[in-house]
Amino acid sequence: MRFERSHARRTAFVAVAGSLALLATACGSGDKGSSGSGGASTGALEGRGPITLATGKDTSGNLQNQLNAWNAQHPNEKVELKELPEDADAQRQQMVQNAQAKSDAYSVLVMDVVWTSEFAANQWITQIPEDKVPDLGKLLPATVETAKYRDKLYAVPMTSDGGLLYYRSDLLKAAGITEAPKTWDEMKADCTKVQATPAGKGIGCYAGQFEKYEGLTVNFSEAVNSAGGDIVDKDGKPNVNTPEAKAGLTELVNDFKTGVIPKEAITYKEEESRRAFQDGKLLFLRNWPYVYALANKTDGSSKIAGKFAVAPLPGKTGPGVSSLGGHDYAISSYAKNKATAIDFINFMASEARQKANIEKTSQAPTWASLYDDPTLNKQFPYLAPLKASIQNAKPRPRVVKYGDVTAAIQAAAYDALSQKTAPDKALADLQTKLQSLITN
Ligand code: GLC
Repeated sequence: MRFERSHARRTAFVAVAGSLALLATACGSGDKGSSGSGGASTGALEGRGPITLATGKDTSGNLQNQLNAWNAQHPNEKVELKELPEDADAQRQQMVQNAQAKSDAYSVLVMDVVWTSEFAANQWITQIPEDKVPDLGKLLPATVETAKYRDKLYAVPMTSDGGLLYYRSDLLKAAGITEAPKTWDEMKADCTKVQATPAGKGIGCYAGQFEKYEGLTVNFSEAVNSAGGDIVDKDGKPNVNTPEAKAGLTELVNDFKTGVIPKEAITYKEEESRRAFQDGKLLFLRNWPYVYALANKTDGSSKIAGKFAVAPLPGKTGPGVSSLGGHDYAISSYAKNKATAIDFINFMASEARQKANIEKTSQAPTWASLYDDPTLNKQFPYLAPLKASIQNAKPRPRVVKYGDVTAAIQAAAYDALSQKTAPDKALADLQTKLQSLITN
């Protein structure tokens, strides 16, 4: 079955390759799309043989299992894992440097959903004809949008991500609270109640990710969106100098001032905040779905297995709005063996592989059908709030200069949270900065 599919693809490829080569010449790119040459080959998906997968640190521990499944079936086209750092900005930096050096060291790039425009505009990744990705129509539409630049596909959505509110259901129950909070005020009132019980004495109220890195852009955007504001408006224009954005940022600033957010959270990325929650130091945590499986481990690594539940993010006057996260697989323009790379990507993006992955890691799939799978819903009660979180999520700005845009957001938010700059001034300055960066 597998063999027939790739064989059919190879046959179809001959015809497509011919027209793409013609197109490349007609466009004057001078790119021959040559197989296995290691040179920039932005056109055809040619060449078979070993490949590499460059990805951020695999905190799930399951990625190598997935790769082993491919390697067992493709002994001459094995994929080797190239693990990059844990935080998104450091990953991006290594991938950019690699592309600028036109290196063929990374074949498939596990790209944060926010990088597509930059990598595509710079031709660091290869455009992928949609007919090479048979299951695209079955994925959540919001995830497919993240993989496109100017309506063309440059990657394949692999995992999605939506922010969730993790909470200690045991402690809420002991304090007589039966429902998760829907607003920031309700959340803070719940903290006061729980902290007054013997079991909740001294526990931190809430944390997200507030270190100066991509996660801060996410948390800042969610605070702004959850207060009714925007980072960019419907036309893509910067829109952060507004009362709503101020309300969102001020909430975070005040939460730090009053200790609702413990002060060490200014150093938290995803993993630090997950560990604090797992060690029983937090009542509420904003984090991604991958935390669900790890925090429920019964091997002694989590003190709160079975003692927490998951709800949608709270907001200013009602449920909050998540930033859309996730990862797409792209093919480096400088890679060898692109025909193998696209087959590997389709293998990893299949419904069966995504199901196997969520079962082990609780990472959000991109297949719509998996969110309605009764067995999965039993095992992962967070699937319904997660689907809602992803469907209502707001994308971060889809701009070519995303690296500069996120750096500006991180600096403004960090200075406000550490009380170096007042929220008004931070937002007014950020608006000016974003206006100079977002011109398209
Ligand atoms: C997660 C998300 C990604 C986001 C990052 C921020 O990995 O999937 O989109 O940029 O967290 O830290």
